[in-house]
Amino acid sequence: MSGELSPIDKAKFVAAKRAADFVEDGMRVGLGTGSTAAWLVRCLGEMIREQGLRFKGVPTSARTAQLAREVGIEVVSLDDARWLDLTIDGADEFDGDLNLIKGGGGALLQEKIVATASDQMVVIADIGKEVETLGAFPLPVEVIPFGWRTTQALIEETLISMDVLGRSSTLRMNGSAPFVTDEGNHILDLHLNRIGNLRQLALVLNQMPGVVENGLFIDICDTVIIGFGDGRVELRDINEGTIEHDRLDFVESDNLFTDLAE
Ligand code: A5P
Repeated sequence: MSGELSPIDKAKFVAAKRAADFVEDGMRVGLGTGSTAAWLVRCLGEMIREQGLRFKGVPTSARTAQLAREVGIEVVSLDDARWLDLTIDGADEFDGDLNLIKGGGGALLQEKIVATASDQMVVIADIGKEVETLGAFPLPVEVIPFGWRTTQALIEETLISMDVLGRSSTLRMNGSAPFVTDEGNHILDLHLNRIGNLRQLALVLNQMPGVVENGLFIDICDTVIIGFGDGRVELRDINEGTIEHDRLDFVESDNLFTDLAE
């Protein structure tokens, strides 16, 4: 069964499955968005069905909310939950300090609000997401639709004085129309190639009128669980300074793979 999955999907799956062990009865859990987070939601659904796990989930996007409900997770809003024990989410890039670029799936605003409202953030990723310096992945910035071209011009102008290697940006599209986030905004993807000063860039971007939030997650992630295509996982805890290794068995979860193939 696992032969139907690409190595990268296996890596995402094992990272997600290992992260699901962090969820305990009674917790309030932020549920991330993206293909790796979707594996997590499916794994948690399986634990609800087979082990009777009970927790409340706060999704970070409409599509995660829909999947969570489908697999039997009790979905609540962040306003109902107020504060969360744990958020588990994917990332587009992470560095050695566990700083992240997120928003490749367009959900960075809710993802950042939810992760920041959590005692602990666990990121799940395949090894291909690790970088020495953030910025090869275009940095998503959520902007309000009103005057977005002016906001884009202001951002590009400001990037001249930032410690980055590129300063072009593109409006994210969904077919022939601009992509619209769950909050009704647009996304500008900044092609920076390398970000030398994360904090400065994040602060400057968020001070601009028209910018809602940027995809830099600085000092938010506590643990990264890195998956490999052969079933190995590596857990790095930035607070404890520990690294653990584990290996997961694909066979146990055949039904999850079957579900996904359908
Ligand atoms: C969603 O907006 C993103 O932040 C995702 O978490 C990120 O793009 C990782 O997605 P994948 O797990 O699909 O790579």
